[in-house]
Amino acid sequence: MSQAFDVVVIGAGPGGYIAAIRAAQLGFKVACIDEWKNAAGGPAPGGTCTNVGCIPSKALLQSSEHFEHANKHFEEHGISTGKVTMDVAKMVGRKDTVVKQNNDGILYLFKKNKVAFFHGRGSFVKAVDGGYEVAVAGDKPETLVGKQVVVATGSNARQLPGVPFDEDKVLSNDGALRIGAVPKKLVLIGSGVIGLEMGSVWRRLGADVTVLEGLPTFLGAVDEQIAKEAKKAFDKQGLKIELGVQVGEVKVGKKSVTVNYTSAKGEAVALEADKLVVSIGRVPNTTGLNAEAVGLALDERGAIVVDADCKTNLPGVWAVGDVVRGPMLAHKAEEEGVAVAERIAGQHGHVNFNTIPWVIYTSPEIAWVGRTEQQLKADGVAYKAGTFPFLANGRARALGDTTGMVKFLADAQTDEILGVHIVGPMASELISEAVVAMEFKASAEDIARICHAHPSLSEATKEAALAVDKRTLNF
Ligand code: FAD
Ligand code: NAI
Repeated sequence: MSQAFDVVVIGAGPGGYIAAIRAAQLGFKVACIDEWKNAAGGPAPGGTCTNVGCIPSKALLQSSEHFEHANKHFEEHGISTGKVTMDVAKMVGRKDTVVKQNNDGILYLFKKNKVAFFHGRGSFVKAVDGGYEVAVAGDKPETLVGKQVVVATGSNARQLPGVPFDEDKVLSNDGALRIGAVPKKLVLIGSGVIGLEMGSVWRRLGADVTVLEGLPTFLGAVDEQIAKEAKKAFDKQGLKIELGVQVGEVKVGKKSVTVNYTSAKGEAVALEADKLVVSIGRVPNTTGLNAEAVGLALDERGAIVVDADCKTNLPGVWAVGDVVRGPMLAHKAEEEGVAVAERIAGQHGHVNFNTIPWVIYTSPEIAWVGRTEQQLKADGVAYKAGTFPFLANGRARALGDTTGMVKFLADAQTDEILGVHIVGPMASELISEAVVAMEFKASAEDIARICHAHPSLSEATKEAALAVDKRTLNF
């Protein structure tokens, strides 16, 4: 016997679980299926983000930052600690606890919102009258029928051709988050978000870290001035980043792994390391979904084809998050999940792709929203720029972290904010003000005229807005 639902959601990552909760809030009878297993084989909803992504990486970034502060910066505050040591197993255990709290939190939210949760793999069986039949293969096989189906099956790490992940020597994000002891030498391929965040964790803990990047420019999607400033800081910390390399053969030995590559100068290099992390992007995941059974269209990358409203080629089937076009970010997936639930209810859910913030949680943090200076030039938009360094911000001095700046880009005629770019302390929190401002189509002058608490890092935001009109007060 099949169980009937108004909405069946496949995948309980940030896209899926949020879509399920919002649909339930709107009065629908909702099921959510997820196959992720915890170490004991039980359910672990939350997807990549909760289990092997956003949450565990931020837990390790926090622990390793504390370690670095205790080792290198406490002394300047007059605090002596003696020898500071790191118990990696305990750090990883704490990270696992944080993950579990989030898994449990989602199970609680499903109960609270009366979302029926099914643990197992969901796959399309066939289209039926007024909906779709979806099989759940797990400990308790089930057949569900959904009038509407939301696919939120996420993404997987991209592997180097011919170099499969063994999660021992060749690690994806999964293995990189559970290395059991600080490696002497760690190589990461790809200086994108994961390369920089994971590289920072293990460098802070004492590993000799090299990041190999194929492109000749560092963080090409980031505003050039901000990327340059970040690179300076990473160089100073001893995070070795080699740009413009061509990775060749990777030899996996019993005790080490060797990456052969050609440097930007054309030299052949063989770099031996204890572990290799491959962080060269992610691929949409539709494994086991049986998309063919119902004729669900995928593109050449394997992503589910959707329109601007997340509608697929099939009536009543929607897709959100990493499995569709657009940035692979948890908050983008969530916004799409909410919007789809609201569209199913006949409302006008909306996601503004122009105001999705990006954050790289390194130290200094890098955060931005809107267009970069290079994009504005390419688009032929006349703009004004204003920057303010944290060096001139009282709170940053008190914190002992004056690296970086806030940068505003505003339309030359209307003064509308077109982009805000931050490298520096707490950039992840500061960027929200810029997102709100852009969402309300604020001008740089609007921010410049708003009272900001003193002393606070947010004063650097106000001052950068003032700088657009060449009238900073503290620099
Ligand atoms: P996912 O989170 O991948 O969830 C998909 C879920 O569907 C999984 O639980 C999977 O098991 C399940 N599933 C798949 N197929 C089936 C099936 N057939 N049946 C049942 N279940 C299925 N983003 C940020 O915004 N901020 C960050 O700080 C950040 N840090 C990251 C750090 C790392 C190391 C990584 C790898 C990613 C990070 N991301 C971050 C990206 C973020 O994790 C993803 O954008 C987000 O998880 C996408 O959500 P989703 O719901 O689309 O997919
Ligand atoms: P990425 O797209 O951020 O970076 C991949 C990097 O690898 C690029 O710089 C690319 O030029 C390089 N590259 C690709 N192929 C290569 C090759 N063969 N040799 C050398 N370099 C190569 O991808 P990453 O870091 O794997 O992360 C995947 C996604 O996960 C991110 O794009 C982001 O969407 C998400 N994420 C978000 C985080 C956040 O929001 N803080 C944190 C971590 C991941």
